[in-house]
Amino acid sequence: MKELMQGLREASIKAILECESVDELEALRVKYLGKKGELTGILRQMGKLSAEERPIMGQLANKLREDIENALEERKSSLSEKLMEAKLASETIDVTLPGLAHKAGHKHPMYNVLDQIKDIFIGMGFEIVDGPEVELSDYNFTKLNIDAGHPSREWTDTFYFTEDSKICLRTQTSPMQVHAMEKGVLPIRMIAPGRVYRKDEVDATHSPMFHQIEGMVIDKGVTMADLKATLNLVVEKIYGEGTVTRFRPHHFPFTEPSCEMDIQCHKCGGRGCPTCKGEGWIEVLGAGMVHPKVLAGCGIDPDEYSGWAFGMGLERLAMGEYKINDLRLIFENDIRFLEQF
Ligand code: PHE
Repeated sequence: MKELMQGLREASIKAILECESVDELEALRVKYLGKKGELTGILRQMGKLSAEERPIMGQLANKLREDIENALEERKSSLSEKLMEAKLASETIDVTLPGLAHKAGHKHPMYNVLDQIKDIFIGMGFEIVDGPEVELSDYNFTKLNIDAGHPSREWTDTFYFTEDSKICLRTQTSPMQVHAMEKGVLPIRMIAPGRVYRKDEVDATHSPMFHQIEGMVIDKGVTMADLKATLNLVVEKIYGEGTVTRFRPHHFPFTEPSCEMDIQCHKCGGRGCPTCKGEGWIEVLGAGMVHPKVLAGCGIDPDEYSGWAFGMGLERLAMGEYKINDLRLIFENDIRFLEQF
């Protein structure tokens, strides 16, 4: 029996020292010290021993159990130390490595142009106002004197939300004129930039979504001369002093009289070049005196008050300023394009 215990001692200590994982160690504990383990197996044979031998063997067995337990414990702590060291080694961070640079973005070039225009108008005492892109047809058309049957109200031109054509995506920023007037606070000096939507196919100069800037002044004694003087000033600030403008008669249902403003091509000085498509002039905006019917419809007495309004395309302005030749570049958000500004 003594030999059996000696054998168990040698085999178990060796196995424990060679063991490489905590799970295996637990399996060894069960194998040697468990209820059905090898030590228990040996002790079962105690019955065969004489009364003198029994306590001696009992003591030896207890000592053996203690030694195996200690060996298990020691191996366990050295294994977990090793585990920790391996973990630390694999998770080391080299704080001296250069970091990943975060690229800071910047404003879209078109919004730089918008900021410039806002600054110009703020400098003249105008307010910047914002309004809904989903609009009642009443505001987008009817209150602007655009009657039922006008071609711009067709389903082929305008995005409608409802079968009865009462709600649409605004096709122009002009409904902001109505919103401003209906507030009932006079005089008004405002610009309203924002997105507008039309059922246009996408090409180099068209997109179903684009931006306009609406402008309007309502006060006593406002005339077409104020419109021309103000817009001439704005154009000089954008395109440089001495920029020549011309006002051509035009028609809009909500202004009377109406006009379109061109600037003389700043590239060729009016001689004709690719920028102005050989015309010498570049169309910049539509404008006019707010129609008396529109004023009255918004609760403003046209005999007491008058005003002017304009609507200008923002994309075209930005394309001119940055020499961008394709409208699609403005919306594609290709980083290689945007990084150039
Ligand atoms: N809303 C018109 C357009 O989209 C432009 C415009 C605005 C004309 C204000 C006159 C006055 O073409």
